[in-house]
Amino acid sequence: MATTDKDVETSGFLGWIDRRFPLTSTWKAHVSEYYAPKNFNFWYFFGSLALLVLVIQIVTGIFLVMNYKPDATLAFASVEYIMREVPWGWLIRYLHSTGASMFFVVVYLHMFRGLMYGSYRKPRELVWIFGCAIFLCLMAEAFFGYLLPWGQMSFWGAQVIVNLFSAIPFIGPDLSLWIRGDYVVSDVTLNRFFAFHVIAIPLVLIGLVVAHLVALHEVGSNNPDGIEIKAKKDEKGIPLDGIPFHPYYSVHDFMGVCVFLFIFAAIVFFAPEMGGYFLEANNFVPANALQTPNEIAPVWYFTAFYAMLRATTDPFKIVLMVIIALLGVLALLRGRGKWRFGLPVLALLIIVFMALTESKFWGVVVMGTAVVSLFFLPWLDRSPVKSIRYRPLFHKIFYGVFVFAFLVLGYLGTKPPSPAGTLIAQICALIYFAFFLGMPFWTTRGRFKQPPDRVRFKPH
Ligand code: HEM
Repeated sequence: MATTDKDVETSGFLGWIDRRFPLTSTWKAHVSEYYAPKNFNFWYFFGSLALLVLVIQIVTGIFLVMNYKPDATLAFASVEYIMREVPWGWLIRYLHSTGASMFFVVVYLHMFRGLMYGSYRKPRELVWIFGCAIFLCLMAEAFFGYLLPWGQMSFWGAQVIVNLFSAIPFIGPDLSLWIRGDYVVSDVTLNRFFAFHVIAIPLVLIGLVVAHLVALHEVGSNNPDGIEIKAKKDEKGIPLDGIPFHPYYSVHDFMGVCVFLFIFAAIVFFAPEMGGYFLEANNFVPANALQTPNEIAPVWYFTAFYAMLRATTDPFKIVLMVIIALLGVLALLRGRGKWRFGLPVLALLIIVFMALTESKFWGVVVMGTAVVSLFFLPWLDRSPVKSIRYRPLFHKIFYGVFVFAFLVLGYLGTKPPSPAGTLIAQICALIYFAFFLGMPFWTTRGRFKQPPDRVRFKPH
């Protein structure tokens, strides 16, 4: 039914628009009358910062595309042309390359906040799942984008990652050929990666971000106390502990944006390569299919997962098989119903399959599972409280150990492989998976503090 004059409060031009398009009502529902908990802290800056970086990437990307050439014979030179000849081209390129790394900094911190405050728990499962899908898309976006400058690292990085697919039993070699479109990474690969980087993935990413925010606004934001503010409302139906997003959090987030832009600008102007972490030295050398670099390492945001891939050696595969066998025995002894026999049979099948396939393939599986595990967090965590604030001390220690293991993996992934490094990476990978796998058990144990009735908030 069309909106009538009586339905809209606004008059004049805005009223004219509102009778034809839900502008004021959308603004109210999502901004000026979206009630967010009043106790947001530092960790709540990163959602809006992720939005900011998304915009920076899209805008700078558009300007880069104006001068970039997706052609294997011209790509490297076109990037140099942007850096040296195009007015302000160097700035646009450094904003984009720094933006890529800062996207991951912001998103990792944003995810960590979700982990700490149990923001993935009911009723926010979909917010989290859309978030995890965003994370996957971001990884794909960064991977495709990295090939475009056509430097040595672009070329060999893509070569290594695409070759991983060839480890998949039966279909692997054909699959990697299909992805590349050629027998080696070539102009064909560059063209398709360009198409994915500039249009396909950004479209999906934007769609997912919209879905992420719509889902969040449907259920309302969580907060550092992990209690639902919608449970206590005043006579007008407004949450007692809620404040309108605008102007309170728009101003708050604007301050976060200013601080972030200071740091961002400092990197762009003074350390765009960040000691080789944001832009690798080898990528200033044009791609050469006949010369493999001594070390092929991905950019820092992939290194934790890359370290897990490298850690999956033949002995580690055996360790994994033993663990799966033990889990099968545990299910047989303690399981109930159909799981009692189903799980041991599944474990046996996996073990046989593992014995028949090479460890490189299992490295890919381990790496993929590390990311996919995140999707299941809402159902793995069974703690009676959401926020870490009200959990037992040992939960906090587990979270700390998990984050530490992830950081160590990230560090090891930047280094050339060594026997000690591989062993440490294997231990850290086991910690990473034990954290998720053990969650249904350890999250119910210990003494929980009683969360308060209303959010804790000290005005300053
Ligand atoms: C392009 C990337 C992303 C953007 C632009 C984005 C944007 C936002 C924004 C604006 C909010 C509300 C403000 C805030 O709570 O900080 C939010 C909340 C949230 N995001 Fe994201 N997000 C992104 C990626 C992710 C990822 C990768 C995850 C997790 C895997 C995630 C999980 C969440 C959760 C659970 C909330 C609710 C937090 C709460 O209410 O406590 N987001 N996101």
